[in-house]
Amino acid sequence: MRNLQPLIFDPHPHVNFIYGDNGSGKTSILEGIAVMASGKSFRTNQLKHVLAHDNDRMEMRFSIEDPDMGVCEMESLRLKAGDHLLKLNGSVLTSQAEAAHWLPVQIIEPNTFKLLSGSPEERRAFIDWGVFHVEQSFMEQWKTFRKHLKQRNAALKQKEEEWLDVWNAGFIEAAEHIDNERQAYLKRFKPEFKRILNELDPSISVTLAYYPGWEKDSRLADVLSRQQERDMTLGYTQSGPHRAELRIKCDKQPASEILSRGQQKTVVSALKIAQGSLFQQESGRRTIYLVDDLASELDEKHRFALCKLLEDLKCQVFITSIDKEKLTDVWQPVASKVFHVEHGKLEECTE
Ligand SMILES: Nc1ncnc2c1ncn2[C@@H]1O[C@H](COP(=O)(O)OP(=O)(O)OP(=O)(O)O)[C@@H](O)[C@H]1O
Ligand SMILES: [Mg+2]
Repeated sequence: MRNLQPLIFDPHPHVNFIYGDNGSGKTSILEGIAVMASGKSFRTNQLKHVLAHDNDRMEMRFSIEDPDMGVCEMESLRLKAGDHLLKLNGSVLTSQAEAAHWLPVQIIEPNTFKLLSGSPEERRAFIDWGVFHVEQSFMEQWKTFRKHLKQRNAALKQKEEEWLDVWNAGFIEAAEHIDNERQAYLKRFKPEFKRILNELDPSISVTLAYYPGWEKDSRLADVLSRQQERDMTLGYTQSGPHRAELRIKCDKQPASEILSRGQQKTVVSALKIAQGSLFQQESGRRTIYLVDDLASELDEKHRFALCKLLEDLKCQVFITSIDKEKLTDVWQPVASKVFHVEHGKLEECTE
């Protein structure tokens, strides 16, 4: 992938530092792990850009140690034409969600602040990561909901009022299911987030407010019937969990409008670490953290606080930086390996 030469990477089960010059291939290594876990890159929406220019296929094989499964092998083969084959212990996986289940990954990188300033979809995906990793049936519930939404929207477009009554019941049931799961998750998540943010930076104070996607304190059934005419004119459903939002505020203002870039990175890091920590407490399994360009936007004090929290979680982390010193000057974890990347070649530093 990208500029990486074929490589065998034997990372430490806890902390891995990866350093190297601009353009050497550090982000590409983390990107590879992200693509395996989620089928997506945090750098591009088009995976064809991830494949090396002079190659039409990309192959990755991971050995994963899991407390439930023991050691398992995950393989991914991607062709430039778009075909993709994913296998777990030799059996073909039909959904990326299964890979995500075995390889839970959280990413903190320079564009992470988009979780605050980007579209509500990003924050919905954030909540849903947390729900999905504890409650696997959530994916099925979500698929059911999408099916009902599609049926409902088709009826709205065709102005088939009699069909709306038929689809509404299923739509409402699926919607409320998703909403209940999200609310229950956030109730557990909020105190953990508060604790982690306080450890990263006690001077930052933000609040999380969940909006289900329809008028607060109203029944979805009532909202749908009130909005039916307008829905019909628009040809789609205005209210439902597909329009949910997690509002992240600072002094009653959107946090993205008030906080500095470094503060935003701290808040997003707290969100992601809290999510991994809660996942660990509830499932007994651990998240893998990919921290790309640790030093960007963070001063020494904040770098240290972030690294310390990751160390305390005892999960596996991959942290990149341009200088070795930016990594090791603030933090010398006992259990770690250091790697150097140069022109797409990765080597472990043993001294
Ligand atoms: N599809 C591709 N095929 C080959 N090379 C690519 C491809 N896409 C990007 N590159 C090159 O891969 C190199 C590695 O990029 P990468 O972003 O991993 O570097 P980096 O070490 O993270 O750099 P930085 O410190 O600037 O973040 C870059 O030189 C880039 O131009
Ligand atoms: Mg990079």
